[in-house]
Amino acid sequence: MTELSRPTHPATGVHPRRKILVTSALPYANGAIHLGHLVEYIQTDIWVRYQRLRDHSVVYVCADDTHGTPIMLRAEKEGISPETLIDRVWHEHTRDFAGFGISFDQYYSTHSPENRTLSEQIYERLKANGLIEIRRIEQMYDPAKEMFLPDRFIKGECPKCGAQDQYGDSCEACGATYGPTDLKNPRSVVSGSSPIRKESDHYFFRLSDPRCLEFLRQWAITDERLQPEASNKLKEWLGDSDADQGGLSDWDISRDAPYFGFEIPGAPGKYFYVWLDAPIGYYASLKKYCDGHGLSFEAFTAPDSDVEQYHFIGKDILYFHTLFWPAMLKFSGFRTPTNVFAHGFLTVDGAKMSKSRGTFITGQSYLDQQLNPEWLRYYFAAKLNGTMEDLDLNLSDFIARINSDLVGKYVNIASRSAGFITKRFEGRLDSSVLNDLGHPLHTAMMSAAQDMAEAYEHRDTARVVREATALMDRINTYVDSEKPWEIAKQAVQDPQLMPRLHEVCSRALRAFAQLTILLKPILPFTAQRVEQEIFGLDKPLGWADLAGPPISEIKGFSHLMTRVERDRIDALIAANRESLG
Ligand code: 2FM
Ligand code: ZN
Repeated sequence: MTELSRPTHPATGVHPRRKILVTSALPYANGAIHLGHLVEYIQTDIWVRYQRLRDHSVVYVCADDTHGTPIMLRAEKEGISPETLIDRVWHEHTRDFAGFGISFDQYYSTHSPENRTLSEQIYERLKANGLIEIRRIEQMYDPAKEMFLPDRFIKGECPKCGAQDQYGDSCEACGATYGPTDLKNPRSVVSGSSPIRKESDHYFFRLSDPRCLEFLRQWAITDERLQPEASNKLKEWLGDSDADQGGLSDWDISRDAPYFGFEIPGAPGKYFYVWLDAPIGYYASLKKYCDGHGLSFEAFTAPDSDVEQYHFIGKDILYFHTLFWPAMLKFSGFRTPTNVFAHGFLTVDGAKMSKSRGTFITGQSYLDQQLNPEWLRYYFAAKLNGTMEDLDLNLSDFIARINSDLVGKYVNIASRSAGFITKRFEGRLDSSVLNDLGHPLHTAMMSAAQDMAEAYEHRDTARVVREATALMDRINTYVDSEKPWEIAKQAVQDPQLMPRLHEVCSRALRAFAQLTILLKPILPFTAQRVEQEIFGLDKPLGWADLAGPPISEIKGFSHLMTRVERDRIDALIAANRESLG
């Protein structure tokens, strides 16, 4: 249920305090966090911070996704154990997330005792429900390395166009999709040897069971919870009428040794497929959080839980989160997700991120170049609208927008008013102005705040930013028309003008404080500096302070934000450019 559809308390008109569990997708523990990842963490973090600002109770969890063949082989290549690799990457990931202000309550690992216990428990319950089946299947096997090969670890000639060096699932030259056994002259990427076909027993989650189809149709389609684009996909996958039987295939949840993961209870040499224990990692991270904070894990996860549960993901993993995950939860006795929010992919200057062009930009390189993380938070916010559409980071537009909106408009409001308050009024704001609820500037702020609340709730931060920039323009126009610098000049001769100067600057600074509240989810670091360094507040501002921000003085004025310079962006691209070698 969204906040907007939630009834207000009849006596107080106040929304009851919501309890919300939020997740972002778990990044793999074998690569750096890049700007494509950050779209999602920034989107989620803005939503989480907005809910906290509204005084709702939010737990935001995530973890590294640590299992599977690529991580096992990567560790081997580096000559270290998978445990050492995932520990190192965990530190890199948490450092990068902190740099961008991502405010997880818990950042954990899927290679944890909690995740092992929960994965085993869910598996046992699915089995007890008759939803696990063992089947013998044939797969490609590397005889030299003595391991089964995932599709991505087999290369060969495209069966359709003959292009060399194509992966076992699709051809990058002609776009054909096929199975690894269709490739001509296949070879193992791991050892170079020719793979052979080999049989083994696999464990399947029987999604084709009519109970699964019935439940998923209800959850994903009838309940109308998903985004329109996601809902269309689900109709395609599930069929949307009884006449249409739908066609979910059973899901292969096991992998043979050698594999880095959790061994399946009672099945020596068989491991849970990484995608089985990855979403369970959300709950493992929550369990860790609950245990560390004296909270009941069951209160979040039992079928009758009153906690809302939202998963933010990229559109590429919709299948896992809208079919497998809800079905796993449902048939192992847990509550099911309230909703899944998918976003599109990031392009840079209109094209897919590319290592050779230097647009595959890592979070670490961005921070190392001393670029302000809030520039990126603001820019992504301006581009995200709650749909699954792709979004483009246009570097020239990025520079122009930050310099125009944040430096030229937002920070400018404070820099043109605060100095007069400090120099002419000993830092005191005009208290009569602070309590004036009838002024058009104030009513405009309050009415925009309503729209912005709705937009935040629906993850339409593009609209939040549009409303915010319109407010910035409005406040600057007010200052332009009142010309405090001229009043100040005349007031030297005519001290009777001093109250007018006091009023104008105080009105502008109250509006600046309100704007800061409205932008707090997007600009958390700047908001904190405004609260502490400019207004000298000892408590953070909340949404409830919009009507009357508790400000009374200007404590000081330090420069809040610098301009983006083109050469710094060029240096960032250069730092990320890899030669094709
Ligand atoms: O696609 C990915 O990057 C996966 N590591 C996401 C996992 S999300 C969740 F299910 F764990
Ligand atoms: Zn081809």
